Amino acid sequence: MKIDVLTIFPEFFDAVFDFGIIRRARASGIVEINVHDIREYAVDKHKMVDDRPFGGGDGMVMKPEPIFAAIENLVGTTEREAYPTGMRIVLLTPQGRPFKQDLAQEFAGNGKHIVLICGRYEGIDERVNEVLVTDEISIGDYVLSGGEPAAIVIADSIVRLLPNALGSDTSAENDSFSQGMLDCPHYTRPADFKGFSVPEVLLNGNHAEIKKWRYSKALEKTRLMRRDLLKTQNGES
Ligand code: ADE
Repeated sequence: MKIDVLTIFPEFFDAVFDFGIIRRARASGIVEINVHDIREYAVDKHKMVDDRPFGGGDGMVMKPEPIFAAIENLVGTTEREAYPTGMRIVLLTPQGRPFKQDLAQEFAGNGKHIVLICGRYEGIDERVNEVLVTDEISIGDYVLSGGEPAAIVIADSIVRLLPNALGSDTSAENDSFSQGMLDCPHYTRPADFKGFSVPEVLLNGNHAEIKKWRYSKALEKTRLMRRDLLKTQNGES
Protein backbone atom coordinates (compact mmCIF):
# COMPACT_ATOMS: atom_id res chain seq x y z
CA MET A 1 0.00 0.00 0.00
CA LYS A 2 1.04 3.56 -0.67
CA ILE A 3 -0.08 6.51 1.48
CA ASP A 4 0.60 10.11 0.45
CA VAL A 5 -0.16 12.99 2.80
CA LEU A 6 -0.77 16.51 1.47
CA THR A 7 -0.21 19.21 4.08
CA ILE A 8 1.14 22.72 4.52
CA PHE A 9 2.97 21.48 7.65
CA PRO A 10 5.05 18.49 6.52
CA GLU A 11 7.28 18.69 9.63
CA PHE A 12 4.20 17.85 11.70
CA PHE A 13 4.65 14.23 10.59
CA ASP A 14 8.41 13.92 11.16
CA ALA A 15 8.30 11.70 14.21
CA VAL A 16 4.89 10.06 14.12
CA PHE A 17 5.47 7.76 11.17
CA ASP A 18 8.84 6.71 12.57
CA PHE A 19 7.75 4.68 15.59
CA GLY A 20 6.40 1.28 16.45
CA ILE A 21 4.14 -0.57 14.08
CA ILE A 22 4.19 2.10 11.36
CA ARG A 23 7.97 2.27 11.40
CA ARG A 24 8.24 -1.51 11.10
CA ALA A 25 5.62 -1.67 8.35
CA ARG A 26 7.50 0.98 6.37
CA ALA A 27 10.86 -0.69 6.91
CA SER A 28 9.56 -4.06 5.72
CA GLY A 29 7.86 -2.60 2.65
CA ILE A 30 4.27 -3.31 3.79
CA VAL A 31 3.48 0.37 3.33
CA GLU A 32 5.19 3.35 1.72
CA ILE A 33 4.30 6.69 3.31
CA ASN A 34 5.30 10.02 1.80
CA VAL A 35 4.47 13.49 3.10
CA HIS A 36 4.22 16.35 0.58
CA ASP A 37 4.23 20.10 1.15
CA ILE A 38 1.21 21.61 -0.65
CA ARG A 39 3.17 24.85 -0.94
CA GLU A 40 5.57 23.20 -3.38
CA TYR A 41 2.66 22.92 -5.79
CA ALA A 42 1.69 26.61 -5.49
CA VAL A 43 1.42 28.20 -8.91
CA ASP A 44 2.21 31.87 -8.24
CA LYS A 45 5.54 33.44 -7.35
CA HIS A 46 4.52 34.10 -3.74
CA LYS A 47 3.73 30.40 -3.24
CA MET A 48 0.24 31.27 -2.01
CA VAL A 49 -1.81 28.34 -0.76
CA ASP A 50 -4.77 30.28 0.65
CA ASP A 51 -6.94 33.28 -0.17
CA ARG A 52 -9.95 35.26 1.12
CA PRO A 53 -13.35 33.59 0.88
CA PHE A 54 -15.74 34.65 -1.88
CA GLY A 55 -18.83 36.20 -0.28
CA GLY A 56 -16.79 37.55 2.63
CA GLY A 57 -16.43 36.21 6.13
CA ASP A 58 -13.64 35.27 8.52
CA GLY A 59 -10.48 33.41 7.78
CA MET A 60 -8.83 32.11 4.67
CA VAL A 61 -9.70 29.30 2.28
CA MET A 62 -7.14 26.92 0.80
CA LYS A 63 -6.80 27.46 -2.95
CA PRO A 64 -7.71 24.68 -5.37
CA GLU A 65 -4.78 24.95 -7.85
CA PRO A 66 -1.96 23.60 -5.65
CA ILE A 67 -4.08 20.62 -4.57
CA PHE A 68 -5.13 19.82 -8.14
CA ALA A 69 -1.47 20.06 -9.20
CA ALA A 70 -0.43 17.73 -6.37
CA ILE A 71 -3.07 15.12 -7.30
CA GLU A 72 -2.11 15.35 -10.98
CA ASN A 73 1.49 14.69 -9.96
CA LEU A 74 0.78 11.86 -7.50
CA VAL A 75 -2.03 10.09 -9.34
CA GLY A 76 -1.38 11.07 -12.94
CA THR A 77 -4.88 12.45 -13.44
CA THR A 78 -7.45 14.75 -11.88
CA GLU A 79 -10.35 12.86 -13.47
CA ARG A 80 -12.02 10.80 -10.75
CA GLU A 81 -13.30 8.31 -13.34
CA ALA A 82 -9.72 7.70 -14.48
CA TYR A 83 -8.34 6.87 -11.01
CA PRO A 84 -6.80 3.41 -10.84
CA THR A 85 -8.66 0.78 -8.75
CA GLY A 86 -7.82 1.01 -5.07
CA MET A 87 -7.24 4.76 -5.34
CA ARG A 88 -8.82 6.75 -2.50
CA ILE A 89 -8.50 10.52 -2.29
CA VAL A 90 -9.49 11.40 1.26
CA LEU A 91 -10.36 14.91 2.39
CA LEU A 92 -10.21 15.39 6.16
CA THR A 93 -12.88 17.74 7.46
CA PRO A 94 -15.34 17.87 10.39
CA GLN A 95 -18.13 17.71 7.76
CA GLY A 96 -17.08 14.26 6.55
CA ARG A 97 -18.42 10.74 7.09
CA PRO A 98 -17.49 9.55 10.60
CA PHE A 99 -14.38 7.34 10.54
CA LYS A 100 -14.99 3.95 12.16
CA GLN A 101 -13.16 0.63 12.31
CA ASP A 102 -15.21 -0.78 9.43
CA LEU A 103 -13.93 2.00 7.15
CA ALA A 104 -10.35 1.36 8.33
CA GLN A 105 -10.89 -2.31 7.40
CA GLU A 106 -12.33 -1.34 4.04
CA PHE A 107 -9.33 0.90 3.25
CA ALA A 108 -6.85 -1.74 4.45
CA GLY A 109 -8.59 -4.46 2.42
CA ASN A 110 -9.34 -2.65 -0.85
CA GLY A 111 -7.14 0.45 -0.82
CA LYS A 112 -3.90 0.38 -2.77
CA HIS A 113 -3.04 4.07 -2.91
CA ILE A 114 -4.49 6.50 -0.39
CA VAL A 115 -3.98 10.27 -0.50
CA LEU A 116 -4.85 12.14 2.69
CA ILE A 117 -5.53 15.85 2.13
CA CYS A 118 -5.18 17.92 5.30
CA GLY A 119 -7.19 21.14 5.37
CA ARG A 120 -6.27 24.24 7.35
CA TYR A 121 -7.71 27.71 7.79
CA GLU A 122 -11.48 27.94 7.38
CA GLY A 123 -11.58 25.15 4.84
CA ILE A 124 -10.60 24.04 1.38
CA ASP A 125 -12.12 25.36 -1.85
CA GLU A 126 -15.13 23.06 -2.35
CA ARG A 127 -14.11 22.24 -5.95
CA VAL A 128 -11.41 19.98 -4.49
CA ASN A 129 -14.19 17.97 -2.86
CA GLU A 130 -16.51 18.13 -5.86
CA VAL A 131 -13.94 17.06 -8.43
CA LEU A 132 -11.08 15.13 -6.83
CA VAL A 133 -12.16 13.57 -3.55
CA THR A 134 -13.51 10.02 -3.23
CA ASP A 135 -14.03 10.10 0.56
CA GLU A 136 -14.68 13.09 2.83
CA ILE A 137 -13.94 11.89 6.35
CA SER A 138 -14.19 13.21 9.91
CA ILE A 139 -12.49 11.46 12.83
CA GLY A 140 -15.03 12.72 15.35
CA ASP A 141 -17.49 15.39 16.36
CA TYR A 142 -14.97 18.04 17.34
CA VAL A 143 -13.05 20.62 15.37
CA LEU A 144 -9.28 20.31 15.00
CA SER A 145 -7.09 23.21 13.85
CA GLY A 146 -6.31 21.17 10.77
CA GLY A 147 -6.61 17.75 9.23
CA GLU A 148 -3.05 16.69 10.20
CA PRO A 149 -3.89 14.86 13.46
CA ALA A 150 -6.78 13.18 11.61
CA ALA A 151 -4.42 12.00 8.84
CA ILE A 152 -2.21 10.40 11.49
CA VAL A 153 -5.19 8.67 13.09
CA ILE A 154 -6.37 7.31 9.76
CA ALA A 155 -2.95 6.20 8.52
CA ASP A 156 -2.22 4.43 11.81
CA SER A 157 -5.55 2.63 11.99
CA ILE A 158 -5.17 1.39 8.39
CA VAL A 159 -1.52 0.35 8.54
CA ARG A 160 -1.98 -1.87 11.61
CA LEU A 161 -4.64 -3.81 9.70
CA LEU A 162 -2.40 -4.57 6.71
CA PRO A 163 -1.27 -8.20 6.41
CA ASN A 164 1.80 -8.90 8.59
CA ALA A 165 1.93 -5.35 10.04
CA LEU A 166 1.36 -6.56 13.60
CA GLY A 167 3.74 -9.51 13.46
CA SER A 168 2.80 -13.14 13.95
CA ASP A 169 2.18 -13.07 17.71
CA THR A 170 -0.36 -10.25 17.66
CA SER A 171 -3.56 -9.79 15.75
CA ALA A 172 -6.14 -7.12 15.18
CA GLU A 173 -8.96 -9.66 15.45
CA ASN A 174 -9.60 -8.96 19.12
CA ASP A 175 -9.16 -5.20 18.89
CA SER A 176 -11.96 -3.03 20.15
CA PHE A 177 -14.68 -2.56 17.47
CA SER A 178 -13.48 -5.43 15.27
CA GLN A 179 -16.18 -7.75 16.69
CA GLY A 180 -18.68 -4.96 17.25
CA MET A 181 -17.56 -4.71 20.87
CA LEU A 182 -14.89 -3.03 22.97
CA ASP A 183 -11.80 -4.98 23.97
CA CYS A 184 -11.63 -6.85 27.31
CA PRO A 185 -9.29 -5.74 30.15
CA HIS A 186 -5.65 -6.95 30.15
CA TYR A 187 -3.24 -7.64 33.02
CA THR A 188 0.45 -8.54 33.34
CA ARG A 189 2.90 -9.32 36.17
CA PRO A 190 2.95 -8.87 39.12
CA ALA A 191 -0.14 -10.91 40.00
CA ASP A 192 -0.41 -8.88 43.20
CA PHE A 193 0.49 -5.19 43.01
CA LYS A 194 0.16 -3.28 46.30
CA GLY A 195 -2.72 -5.56 47.23
CA PHE A 196 -4.52 -5.09 43.88
CA SER A 197 -4.80 -8.54 42.39
CA VAL A 198 -5.30 -9.97 38.92
CA PRO A 199 -8.58 -11.88 38.31
CA GLU A 200 -8.02 -15.50 39.40
CA VAL A 201 -9.36 -16.95 36.13
CA LEU A 202 -6.41 -15.51 34.17
CA LEU A 203 -3.90 -17.33 36.37
CA ASN A 204 -5.25 -20.89 36.19
CA GLY A 205 -4.29 -21.72 32.57
CA ASN A 206 -7.80 -22.90 31.62
CA HIS A 207 -8.04 -21.40 28.15
CA ALA A 208 -11.72 -22.13 27.60
CA GLU A 209 -12.52 -20.38 30.90
CA ILE A 210 -10.27 -17.47 29.99
CA LYS A 211 -11.94 -17.07 26.59
CA LYS A 212 -15.38 -17.05 28.24
CA TRP A 213 -14.24 -14.53 30.86
CA ARG A 214 -12.76 -12.23 28.20
CA TYR A 215 -15.95 -12.32 26.14
CA SER A 216 -18.14 -11.54 29.15
CA LYS A 217 -15.84 -8.70 30.26
CA ALA A 218 -15.83 -7.22 26.72
CA LEU A 219 -19.63 -7.39 26.66
CA GLU A 220 -19.89 -5.84 30.15
CA LYS A 221 -17.54 -3.01 29.18
CA THR A 222 -19.41 -2.37 25.93
CA ARG A 223 -22.77 -2.28 27.74
CA LEU A 224 -21.34 0.19 30.23
CA MET A 225 -19.38 2.50 27.91
CA ARG A 226 -20.86 2.05 24.42
CA ARG A 227 -24.34 0.59 24.43
CA ASP A 228 -24.83 2.07 20.96
CA LEU A 229 -22.33 -0.46 19.51
CA LEU A 230 -24.46 -3.40 20.65
CA LYS A 231 -27.62 -1.81 19.35
CA THR A 232 -26.23 -1.11 15.90
CA GLN A 233 -24.23 -4.31 15.38
CA ASN A 234 -26.07 -7.07 17.23
CA GLY A 235 -29.62 -5.79 17.30
CA GLU A 236 -29.47 -5.70 21.11
CA SER A 237 -31.30 -2.90 22.94
N1 ADE B 1 -10.24 18.79 10.44
C1 ADE B 1 -10.72 19.55 11.44
N2 ADE B 1 -11.47 18.82 12.28
C2 ADE B 1 -11.49 17.55 11.79
C3 ADE B 1 -12.11 16.35 12.19
N3 ADE B 1 -12.89 16.28 13.28
N4 ADE B 1 -11.90 15.25 11.45
C4 ADE B 1 -11.14 15.30 10.34
N5 ADE B 1 -10.53 16.42 9.91
C5 ADE B 1 -10.69 17.54 10.63
